[in-house]
Amino acid sequence: MTPTVASFPAARLRRTRATPAIRDLVRENTLSVGDLIWPVFVRDGTGIEEPIASMPGVMRRSVDKIAAAAIEAQALGIPSICIFPYTDASLKTEDCAEAWSPDNLTNQAVRAIKSAAPNIAVMTDVALDPYNINGHDGFVVDGEIVNDATVEALVKMTLAQAEAGADIIGPSDMMDGRIGAMRQALEKAGHSNVMILSYSAKYASGYYGPFRDAVGASGALSGDKKTYQMDPANGDEAMRLVQRDLIEGADMVMVKPGIAYLDICHRVKTNFGVPTFAYQVSGEYAMIQAAALNGWIDGEKVMLENLMAFKRAGCDGILTYFAPEVARILNT
Ligand code: PBG
Repeated sequence: MTPTVASFPAARLRRTRATPAIRDLVRENTLSVGDLIWPVFVRDGTGIEEPIASMPGVMRRSVDKIAAAAIEAQALGIPSICIFPYTDASLKTEDCAEAWSPDNLTNQAVRAIKSAAPNIAVMTDVALDPYNINGHDGFVVDGEIVNDATVEALVKMTLAQAEAGADIIGPSDMMDGRIGAMRQALEKAGHSNVMILSYSAKYASGYYGPFRDAVGASGALSGDKKTYQMDPANGDEAMRLVQRDLIEGADMVMVKPGIAYLDICHRVKTNFGVPTFAYQVSGEYAMIQAAALNGWIDGEKVMLENLMAFKRAGCDGILTYFAPEVARILNT
C-alpha cells in the first residue's frame, strides 16, 4: 500500500476515533439483518421446542413450531432460513432412502415455511448424514465413502427439495462433481431458478461437535470425515474447490467453519468476486455461549465482533444460530 498518511504530529489517527459520530462516519463495514441466514433444526411431532444441551438457546422444533419461527424471522427481516433435520434412528438406513422422500422432515418444513412466511428464502442441506446409519455424508462401501453413487443419491435429494419449494440448495457433502450433476438435474426438471449455495470449502473440523448432537448423528458416526472434508492446513485447495464449483454452476459459495478460516473467506472474495458466505458453526456458537454463561466474556459483544469479522473478511452473509438475537439487536 502506498503510504498516504503523514507522521505524527501531522497525523493523529486517534482523531477519527474520538466520538461516536466520527466513528460512524469512518466505519468501513456494516453488519445488517439482510446478511443473515438462520439454521434451524426440525424434528417430528407437534408443538415441540426442545432445547439442545450443547447449544444453549437453540431448539429442535416440530414442523408447526418451525413455521411459527419463520413468521418471526420474516418479521425481523431475516432473509433466509436453512433447515436441518433431526431424524429418528428408526429412519436411518444404509440406503438413506429417507433423504429423498417427498415427505421427510426437511421437505415438510420447506412447505410449512413457504406457506407461513413466503418472503423467506428457504435453504436446504444436501448430504446423507442425517439419514445414514453410519453418520457419513456419503454411502459407505467396504469402509470407503464412495463418490459417484453418492452423487446420484444427492441429486434425488436435491430434486425432492426443489419439488417441495426450496429456493436455495446447500450441498454440504463435499463429493466431487455434485454441483454439476445437481445443476443439470434442476434445469432438466424445470427448476432453473433454484439456486445452489455450495459448501465449497468445508473443513474436517472439530467445531461441528454440537451440531452432530443436534441432528442425532454423533453416536452414529464411524471414523472421521477426512477423506472428503478438507484438511485445515490447506488454503490453495479451497481456491480450486471454489473455482470448480463455480464452473459447475454454483451461484454462491461457502466457507465452513467461519472464524478460524477468515483468511479463506478473504481469499475467496478477492479471487472470485462471487457471493461468499461463512458458516459460524455450532462449535463457534457453543464456545461463545459457554463463556458468556460463565460470565467470562460479554456474549453479545463477542457475537457481534465475530459477525463483523466475517463482513470485514469479505463475506456477503453469514449462517449463524444467533440470527434472531442479532436481528433483534440490530433492529432496535
Ligand atoms: C453435515 C453437516 C455438518 C454441518 C452442517 N452440515 C456436520 C458435519 O459435516 O459433520 C455442521 C454445522 C454446524 O456445526 O453448525 N452434512
